[in-house]
Amino acid sequence: MAGLTKVSVDELRGGMSVVRFDCAGFMFEYYGKPLPSDCAKLRSFLKSNKVTYALVYEDSILPEDASPTAAIKDYIDQHPAAAEEKPPTPPKLPELTQVMSVHTEAKLMTTTMMNEARMGKMIDTKAAREMVSTLVEQCIKTPEAFISITRLKDFDNYTFMHSVNVSVLAISLAKRLGFSAKDLNNIGFAGLMHDIGKMGVPESILNKPGKLDGPEFEIMKQHTVKGYNYLKAANITEESILQAVRCHHEKSDGSGYPDGLMEAQIPKFAKIISIADVYDAITSERVYSKGMMPAEAIRTLFSWSGRHFNDALVKFFISIMGIYPAGTLVMLDSGELAIIMWPNKKDPMRPKVLVITGPDMAHLDEPFIFNLSSYNARTSTPYKSVVSALNPQDFNINVNEVIAKYLIGNEEEAEEEAAAEGSEKNPLLRQRSAKE
Ligand SMILES: [Fe+2]
Repeated sequence: MAGLTKVSVDELRGGMSVVRFDCAGFMFEYYGKPLPSDCAKLRSFLKSNKVTYALVYEDSILPEDASPTAAIKDYIDQHPAAAEEKPPTPPKLPELTQVMSVHTEAKLMTTTMMNEARMGKMIDTKAAREMVSTLVEQCIKTPEAFISITRLKDFDNYTFMHSVNVSVLAISLAKRLGFSAKDLNNIGFAGLMHDIGKMGVPESILNKPGKLDGPEFEIMKQHTVKGYNYLKAANITEESILQAVRCHHEKSDGSGYPDGLMEAQIPKFAKIISIADVYDAITSERVYSKGMMPAEAIRTLFSWSGRHFNDALVKFFISIMGIYPAGTLVMLDSGELAIIMWPNKKDPMRPKVLVITGPDMAHLDEPFIFNLSSYNARTSTPYKSVVSALNPQDFNINVNEVIAKYLIGNEEEAEEEAAAEGSEKNPLLRQRSAKE
């Protein structure tokens, strides 16, 4: 279960979810719900009622000021579209299945490409660029579904799946910053290729089930420069792509590699890719570490901002991922367990979820999608809301498997829904059926 933490009344902030106060029997309309953003009056009210501290869900504590600040101003000035945050559109099942299909195609292509690189062959950069252009199109068409799908991981093919996820997350962040379509394509390509140099690292080091020793780590670190050289040899001429691959392990405080660059020297694309890279890595299960829950990963990323990452970019990243990102296992106030499919930025406690158990926590034969922000028309109150984030391992639940099983089981239904709405069928699916 998500932990509880004690905060003084003065520390109460918007979004925090209070479980109880130090005053027994105190009636409070926001128990279990996010506090409103302006808490000043609420704090005075609580103090006047002799409340001194509250127990709140740790997961509900939002980073201080996740909105644009002066530090981000430069980015907004350069990319005016970054300031416009459009409200998320409600998700549709066909969108998820379409995106999953594109994601699978991208993983297959990346696997082939990287294996060819390991064998010393020159990769087909044209095919990779075409794949990235499909990813960019999908990001523009269905941004929320696009980012959700990065929760799909593949334990046995980590490097390949990770490359696709980094590309997807980097495109999403760059889109949020208002980058041009050309830049989105270049950053997506750099994201897909960021670890291509690892194909020049011995597999005994790459797949070592444990921490690397000093000399091994030195060899691993060479993947940045190897990647740069490899892409140059493959006739990639854009310096922005080459530098993004070379510098994706540089850190703002100069402690990164290969060149120990400081914040101002690190290329913009590399800064974006490093955030996407670390987020996907820490949320993935590896031989030597269990993956973090998305909400925990967001907090970890935030704690490293400024030292490792550009803090403004981390804030933008949090703004697209939400405090309870897609793939988070949550408990609803009804007692049911559910997986967040679509975060709700306006009301983080009421996203669109996949309900997987009944109120008695017995697994459902047929999980179903439910929009927590829908209201009961009779009572004008929401049906249910999220109470807290849970660790899937505590409940023996494999989130990725549950999502994949649900999407595959409903692919046909999704196609029908798409056809009924007149939306275009996924071109990749269309290509496949034409071949069949
Ligand atoms: Fe890397």
